[in-house]
Amino acid sequence: ELGGHTDFMRKEMAEQPEAIARALRGRLDERFATAHLGGLGLDPMALRAVKRVKFLGCGSAYYAGQMGATLVEELARIPADAEPASEFRYRNPVVDPDALYVAVSQSGETLDTLAAVQELRRKGGRVIGAVNVVGSAIARECGSGLFLHAGPEVSVASTKALTNMTVSFAMLALLLGRVRDLSASAGQRIVTGLRALPGHVERVLADDADIARIAKRFAHAEHMFFLGRVRGWPVAREGAQKLKEISYVHAEAYQSAELKHGPLALVDANMPSVVIVPADDLLAKNLATIEQVKARGGPVIAITNAELPSGLADEVIRVPRGEPELDPILLTIPLQLLAYHTASALGRDIDKPRNLAKSVTVE
Ligand code: BG6
Repeated sequence: ELGGHTDFMRKEMAEQPEAIARALRGRLDERFATAHLGGLGLDPMALRAVKRVKFLGCGSAYYAGQMGATLVEELARIPADAEPASEFRYRNPVVDPDALYVAVSQSGETLDTLAAVQELRRKGGRVIGAVNVVGSAIARECGSGLFLHAGPEVSVASTKALTNMTVSFAMLALLLGRVRDLSASAGQRIVTGLRALPGHVERVLADDADIARIAKRFAHAEHMFFLGRVRGWPVAREGAQKLKEISYVHAEAYQSAELKHGPLALVDANMPSVVIVPADDLLAKNLATIEQVKARGGPVIAITNAELPSGLADEVIRVPRGEPELDPILLTIPLQLLAYHTASALGRDIDKPRNLAKSVTVE
């Protein structure tokens, strides 16, 4: 079952290139520079009527939703956000009849997410599923949506399913954009970027040994910061979550600019920071963040697809450069490996972290 891998998390990380290829298969349209997502059950008029998009999920699915919201705002220019499904269901939400709600779940069985869907349907909200398991409770309750096609995921820490969530949201954002004002050339750029992803992920996975070395170097830190802004912010949150889940190292994610409003007081030689540095128009801001941390003696691990001034960060993990809107997908991969190798250096049970379950079907 493990196919020669030591554990499921490793196997599932390795499967990501083929999982992405499966999610893309038959869905990209080069001629019209768009995506075909027949399962949504929304024709172009219905897609145009969407005034707002909200992603709901728990844990990694919530962070994937946040990446999705960024993609929708960037490509379709529709207001979008993400919220933990549990908060949504308990706060007597105002349900917007012009919004498209997306319930995000690998298992399709997470109770909080299912309850959010039921609350939405009860109030007449339009909700679709982004689910990996066909026939699951959330898929059935929604009736339409986007299947993730990641294949079975066993490890509690989600890797390939999370990647396919973000890839699927990129296609949804592309489709919503192309029925509005996203130009054909911009659409084509995203189509090309998506097609390049499996190969790019392959290259990040090939960096395994170096990431393992870096993980070992910092495995004994008691706390770690994960810092990012805009596209890098959900990436930082997901990276911190993974580290906590499987290595039990305390990790906190902050928006880079928030660092100086409090958490900077914690930075010293014993507090390493993982800084997400996309090669986009915020590059200079992110380099300044690294300098702020370094000035207080904090070690820095940069995750980047940019050229950094040499010696700026203590360690640099480089990923291939693709289309900037898709950066979060690729920048997340080294963080999986970093968490994996930290957990492994600390002798943790990687597939079955203490106190956690693969899907939480209780209150
Ligand atoms: C949590 C798991 O309990 O459920 C997380 O520990 C997971 O890893 C979350 O992301 C949501 O699960 P699902 O199946 O709804 O995506």
